[in-house]
Amino acid sequence: MTRFSVMTLFPEMIDAGLNVSILARAAGKGLIDINAVNIRDYTDNKHGRVDDYTYGGGAGMLMQAQPIYDCYQALTDDHPAGRVIYVTPQGRTFDQNMARELAEEEHIVFLCGHYEGVDERVLEAIVTDYVSIGDYVLTGGELPAMVMIDAISRHIPGVLHNEESTDTESFAEGLLEYPQYTRPEEWMGRKVPEILLSGDHAKVDVWRHQESLIRTKQRRPDLYDVYMASHPEDTK
Ligand code: ADE
Repeated sequence: MTRFSVMTLFPEMIDAGLNVSILARAAGKGLIDINAVNIRDYTDNKHGRVDDYTYGGGAGMLMQAQPIYDCYQALTDDHPAGRVIYVTPQGRTFDQNMARELAEEEHIVFLCGHYEGVDERVLEAIVTDYVSIGDYVLTGGELPAMVMIDAISRHIPGVLHNEESTDTESFAEGLLEYPQYTRPEEWMGRKVPEILLSGDHAKVDVWRHQESLIRTKQRRPDLYDVYMASHPEDTK
Protein backbone atom coordinates (compact mmCIF):
# COMPACT_ATOMS: atom_id res chain seq x y z
CA MET A 1 0.00 0.00 0.00
CA THR A 2 1.26 3.45 -0.87
CA ARG A 3 0.75 6.02 1.82
CA PHE A 4 0.34 9.71 0.91
CA SER A 5 0.40 12.17 3.79
CA VAL A 6 -0.41 15.80 3.15
CA MET A 7 0.56 18.47 5.66
CA THR A 8 -1.77 21.38 5.00
CA LEU A 9 -3.86 24.14 6.56
CA PHE A 10 -6.81 22.99 4.40
CA PRO A 11 -7.20 19.22 4.72
CA GLU A 12 -10.82 19.44 3.59
CA MET A 13 -9.58 20.51 0.17
CA ILE A 14 -7.53 17.32 -0.23
CA ASP A 15 -10.36 15.12 1.07
CA ALA A 16 -12.89 16.71 -1.27
CA GLY A 17 -10.65 16.49 -4.33
CA LEU A 18 -9.18 13.01 -4.00
CA ASN A 19 -11.96 10.97 -2.45
CA VAL A 20 -13.75 10.33 -5.74
CA SER A 21 -13.63 8.08 -8.80
CA ILE A 22 -10.54 5.95 -9.45
CA LEU A 23 -8.63 7.12 -6.37
CA ALA A 24 -11.59 6.40 -4.07
CA ARG A 25 -11.80 2.92 -5.60
CA ALA A 26 -8.04 2.41 -5.07
CA ALA A 27 -8.31 3.53 -1.44
CA GLY A 28 -11.27 1.16 -0.98
CA LYS A 29 -9.12 -1.70 -2.27
CA GLY A 30 -6.32 -0.78 0.17
CA LEU A 31 -3.88 0.11 -2.64
CA ILE A 32 -3.40 3.71 -1.51
CA ASP A 33 -4.07 5.68 1.64
CA ILE A 34 -4.42 9.45 1.48
CA ASN A 35 -4.07 11.14 4.82
CA ALA A 36 -4.56 14.93 4.96
CA VAL A 37 -3.41 16.41 8.26
CA ASN A 38 -4.04 19.89 9.57
CA ILE A 39 -0.75 21.57 10.54
CA ARG A 40 -2.71 23.84 12.87
CA ASP A 41 -3.48 20.82 15.09
CA TYR A 42 0.23 20.72 16.00
CA THR A 43 0.89 24.31 16.98
CA ASP A 44 2.15 25.05 20.49
CA ASN A 45 0.55 28.47 20.23
CA LYS A 46 -2.50 28.73 22.43
CA HIS A 47 -4.32 30.88 19.88
CA GLY A 48 -3.77 28.29 17.16
CA ARG A 49 -1.31 30.51 15.34
CA VAL A 50 0.88 28.91 12.65
CA ASP A 51 2.41 32.00 10.97
CA ASP A 52 4.32 35.13 11.87
CA TYR A 53 6.09 38.16 10.39
CA THR A 54 9.25 37.80 8.32
CA TYR A 55 12.62 38.70 9.87
CA GLY A 56 14.19 41.50 7.88
CA GLY A 57 10.83 42.96 6.98
CA GLY A 58 8.72 42.67 3.89
CA ALA A 59 5.09 42.03 3.17
CA GLY A 60 3.21 38.95 4.23
CA MET A 61 3.38 36.20 6.79
CA LEU A 62 5.48 33.07 6.90
CA MET A 63 4.51 29.63 8.17
CA GLN A 64 6.49 28.82 11.32
CA ALA A 65 8.79 25.84 11.73
CA GLN A 66 7.44 24.32 14.96
CA PRO A 67 3.92 23.22 13.91
CA ILE A 68 5.22 21.79 10.62
CA TYR A 69 8.03 19.89 12.30
CA ASP A 70 5.80 18.41 14.99
CA CYS A 71 3.21 17.45 12.37
CA TYR A 72 5.96 15.74 10.34
CA GLN A 73 7.23 13.86 13.41
CA ALA A 74 3.73 12.58 14.19
CA LEU A 75 3.17 11.45 10.60
CA THR A 76 6.47 9.62 10.25
CA ASP A 77 6.68 8.11 13.73
CA ASP A 78 5.12 4.78 12.69
CA HIS A 79 5.72 5.11 8.95
CA PRO A 80 9.07 6.61 7.92
CA ALA A 81 8.78 8.61 4.70
CA GLY A 82 11.01 7.89 1.70
CA ARG A 83 10.33 11.33 0.28
CA VAL A 84 9.21 14.61 1.80
CA ILE A 85 8.09 16.90 -1.00
CA TYR A 86 7.72 20.64 -0.56
CA VAL A 87 5.45 21.81 -3.35
CA THR A 88 6.76 25.13 -4.55
CA PRO A 89 7.16 27.05 -7.82
CA GLN A 90 10.90 26.97 -6.98
CA GLY A 91 11.06 23.19 -7.49
CA ARG A 92 11.94 20.84 -10.32
CA THR A 93 8.99 20.56 -12.72
CA PHE A 94 6.84 17.50 -12.13
CA ASP A 95 6.41 15.15 -15.10
CA GLN A 96 5.35 11.63 -16.02
CA ASN A 97 8.80 10.17 -15.31
CA MET A 98 8.76 11.62 -11.81
CA ALA A 99 5.25 10.23 -11.29
CA ARG A 100 6.43 6.77 -12.33
CA GLU A 101 9.49 6.96 -10.09
CA LEU A 102 7.54 8.18 -7.03
CA ALA A 103 5.05 5.32 -7.46
CA GLU A 104 7.81 3.03 -6.10
CA GLU A 105 7.81 4.75 -2.69
CA GLU A 106 5.94 3.40 0.34
CA HIS A 107 5.25 6.72 2.05
CA ILE A 108 5.39 10.18 0.51
CA VAL A 109 4.80 13.27 2.62
CA PHE A 110 3.71 16.52 0.93
CA LEU A 111 4.11 19.89 2.59
CA CYS A 112 1.73 22.53 1.28
CA GLY A 113 2.83 26.10 1.87
CA HIS A 114 0.58 29.12 2.20
CA TYR A 115 0.95 32.84 2.82
CA GLU A 116 4.38 34.03 1.68
CA GLY A 117 6.08 30.72 2.33
CA VAL A 118 7.68 28.63 5.06
CA ASP A 119 10.55 29.25 7.48
CA GLU A 120 13.62 27.97 5.65
CA ARG A 121 14.94 26.04 8.66
CA VAL A 122 12.14 23.49 8.74
CA LEU A 123 12.55 22.94 5.00
CA GLU A 124 16.25 22.23 5.56
CA ALA A 125 15.37 19.84 8.37
CA ILE A 126 12.78 17.64 6.63
CA VAL A 127 12.43 18.21 2.86
CA THR A 128 14.01 15.76 0.37
CA ASP A 129 12.51 17.19 -2.87
CA TYR A 130 11.32 20.60 -4.06
CA VAL A 131 8.72 20.07 -6.78
CA SER A 132 6.66 22.48 -8.92
CA ILE A 133 3.78 21.63 -11.23
CA GLY A 134 4.60 24.40 -13.69
CA ASP A 135 5.81 27.95 -14.11
CA TYR A 136 2.91 29.83 -12.56
CA VAL A 137 2.08 30.70 -8.96
CA LEU A 138 -0.93 29.31 -7.11
CA THR A 139 -2.38 30.48 -3.80
CA GLY A 140 -1.28 27.33 -2.01
CA GLY A 141 0.31 23.93 -2.39
CA GLU A 142 -2.87 21.85 -2.09
CA LEU A 143 -3.74 21.72 -5.79
CA PRO A 144 -0.16 20.78 -6.77
CA ALA A 145 -0.11 18.03 -4.10
CA MET A 146 -3.43 16.72 -5.43
CA VAL A 147 -2.17 16.78 -9.01
CA MET A 148 0.92 14.81 -8.03
CA ILE A 149 -0.96 12.24 -5.92
CA ASP A 150 -3.36 11.61 -8.80
CA ALA A 151 -0.58 11.22 -11.37
CA ILE A 152 1.54 8.99 -9.09
CA SER A 153 -1.37 6.74 -8.08
CA ARG A 154 -2.10 5.83 -11.70
CA HIS A 155 1.27 4.06 -11.81
CA ILE A 156 0.65 1.90 -8.74
CA PRO A 157 -0.16 -1.67 -9.80
CA GLY A 158 -3.89 -2.40 -9.52
CA VAL A 159 -5.04 1.23 -9.37
CA LEU A 160 -6.03 1.28 -13.03
CA HIS A 161 -8.00 -1.54 -14.60
CA ASN A 162 -6.56 -3.15 -17.76
CA GLU A 163 -8.70 -1.03 -20.04
CA GLU A 164 -7.34 2.10 -18.33
CA SER A 165 -3.74 1.02 -18.93
CA THR A 166 -0.88 3.51 -18.92
CA ASP A 167 0.93 1.67 -21.78
CA THR A 168 -0.64 3.47 -24.72
CA GLU A 169 -1.50 6.85 -23.22
CA SER A 170 0.27 10.13 -23.91
CA PHE A 171 3.93 10.20 -22.78
CA ALA A 172 4.08 6.37 -22.58
CA GLU A 173 6.89 6.35 -25.14
CA GLY A 174 7.56 10.07 -25.17
CA LEU A 175 4.79 10.73 -27.72
CA LEU A 176 1.23 12.05 -27.46
CA GLU A 177 -1.60 9.59 -27.89
CA TYR A 178 -3.22 9.11 -31.34
CA PRO A 179 -6.81 10.29 -32.02
CA GLN A 180 -9.62 7.93 -31.04
CA TYR A 181 -13.21 7.42 -32.20
CA THR A 182 -16.37 5.65 -31.03
CA ARG A 183 -19.83 5.15 -32.52
CA PRO A 184 -21.43 6.34 -34.73
CA GLU A 185 -19.27 5.80 -37.82
CA GLU A 186 -20.36 9.18 -39.17
CA TRP A 187 -21.21 12.22 -37.06
CA MET A 188 -22.12 15.65 -38.47
CA GLY A 189 -20.62 14.61 -41.80
CA ARG A 190 -17.31 13.52 -40.21
CA LYS A 191 -16.30 9.92 -40.81
CA VAL A 192 -14.16 7.64 -38.68
CA PRO A 193 -10.88 6.96 -40.56
CA GLU A 194 -11.44 3.96 -42.86
CA ILE A 195 -8.45 2.01 -41.57
CA LEU A 196 -9.94 1.74 -38.08
CA LEU A 197 -12.91 -0.17 -39.53
CA SER A 198 -10.69 -2.57 -41.52
CA GLY A 199 -10.06 -5.07 -38.76
CA ASP A 200 -6.38 -5.21 -39.79
CA HIS A 201 -4.67 -4.77 -36.41
CA ALA A 202 -1.17 -4.47 -37.81
CA LYS A 203 -2.24 -1.64 -40.13
CA VAL A 204 -4.16 0.04 -37.32
CA ASP A 205 -1.03 -0.04 -35.15
CA VAL A 206 1.06 1.55 -37.91
CA TRP A 207 -1.59 4.21 -38.50
CA ARG A 208 -1.84 5.01 -34.79
CA HIS A 209 1.90 5.34 -34.45
CA GLN A 210 2.04 7.68 -37.47
CA GLU A 211 -0.77 9.79 -35.99
CA SER A 212 1.09 9.95 -32.67
CA LEU A 213 4.14 11.28 -34.51
CA ILE A 214 2.11 13.86 -36.47
CA ARG A 215 0.26 15.03 -33.39
CA THR A 216 3.37 15.28 -31.25
CA LYS A 217 5.21 17.22 -33.97
CA GLN A 218 2.32 19.67 -34.28
CA ARG A 219 1.37 20.14 -30.65
CA ARG A 220 4.58 19.43 -28.74
CA PRO A 221 7.58 20.02 -31.00
CA ASP A 222 9.79 19.94 -27.88
CA LEU A 223 8.76 16.33 -27.14
CA TYR A 224 9.00 15.42 -30.82
CA ASP A 225 12.62 16.55 -31.01
CA VAL A 226 13.55 14.52 -27.93
CA TYR A 227 11.79 11.44 -29.31
CA MET A 228 13.39 11.77 -32.75
CA ALA A 229 16.87 12.14 -31.27
CA SER A 230 16.54 8.64 -29.79
CA HIS A 231 14.49 7.11 -32.69
CA PRO A 232 16.20 8.51 -35.82
CA GLU A 233 14.81 5.72 -38.02
CA ASP A 234 11.23 6.56 -37.07
CA THR A 235 10.15 9.17 -39.62
CA LYS A 236 6.82 10.39 -40.82
N1 ADE B 1 2.68 26.57 -4.94
C1 ADE B 1 2.29 27.70 -5.57
N2 ADE B 1 2.43 27.57 -6.89
C2 ADE B 1 2.94 26.33 -7.12
C3 ADE B 1 3.32 25.59 -8.27
N3 ADE B 1 3.22 26.11 -9.51
N4 ADE B 1 3.80 24.35 -8.12
C4 ADE B 1 3.93 23.83 -6.90
N5 ADE B 1 3.58 24.47 -5.78
C5 ADE B 1 3.10 25.71 -5.88
